[in-house]
Amino acid sequence: MIFESHVHYDDEAFDEDRDALLRSLAKNGIDLVINVGASIKSCKDTLALIEKYPFVYGAMGVHPSETGALEEEDIQWLKESCALDKVVAVGEIGLDYHWKEPEASTQQKWFRRQLELAREVNLPVIIHSREAAKDTLDIMRDMRAEEVGGVIHCFSYTKETAAQFLGMDYYFGIGGVVTFENAKKLREAVSYIPIEKILLETDGPYLAPVPNRGKRNSSLNLPYIAKEIASIKGIGYDKVLSVTHENAEKLFGIKQ
Ligand code: NI
Repeated sequence: MIFESHVHYDDEAFDEDRDALLRSLAKNGIDLVINVGASIKSCKDTLALIEKYPFVYGAMGVHPSETGALEEEDIQWLKESCALDKVVAVGEIGLDYHWKEPEASTQQKWFRRQLELAREVNLPVIIHSREAAKDTLDIMRDMRAEEVGGVIHCFSYTKETAAQFLGMDYYFGIGGVVTFENAKKLREAVSYIPIEKILLETDGPYLAPVPNRGKRNSSLNLPYIAKEIASIKGIGYDKVLSVTHENAEKLFGIKQ
């Protein structure tokens, strides 16, 4: 079976067929799903999903691009939500310098605060880091994030940067980008990262893998990602599924 470690089923892209899609996952080989919050609203919607579907677990956090209006009382609400049984991580949190808003100092402030939150509630983090490798690593080191543990989601940096995160014993979320023709550097990184440190993810509705690039993404596309990883690493497809499943169970503390 396949463990989907990062998806956004609360997104309006799934409004039309959310229930049917979620109910079709098991017969397509996907047995566990982490729905990841990205704003306070999406965290609330995530709580509704984890209550409705036994195989869906949640992460509570605010994406760097959504930190502009964040306040300490929101963090207190996140903290209360993190106490629920099926909330298994703080995320997604981090830095995204591709977008100029909110300014870097605001993103950094709330990245630090949410790393602290993860420590307070004793949960791993799901980190979003785009065009911000150095500051991400600096803040993680400063906040002793290696003691918190977590995953660098949608990892898309080089092998050299992977080595830095590996030094902090982090996991790597590998998604559809690995199948893109221009992703040579990422494939090198995936070849370098031990399979014991890789999680499968789609980040749906975004970033669908080849051959569905450009379409709405969902967990149904995970086999394309797993096949690509199997081919890069020269190991069996089933082994990719079983090892990444175990990795995610271990990181998020989920035992079936
Ligand atoms: Ni995401």
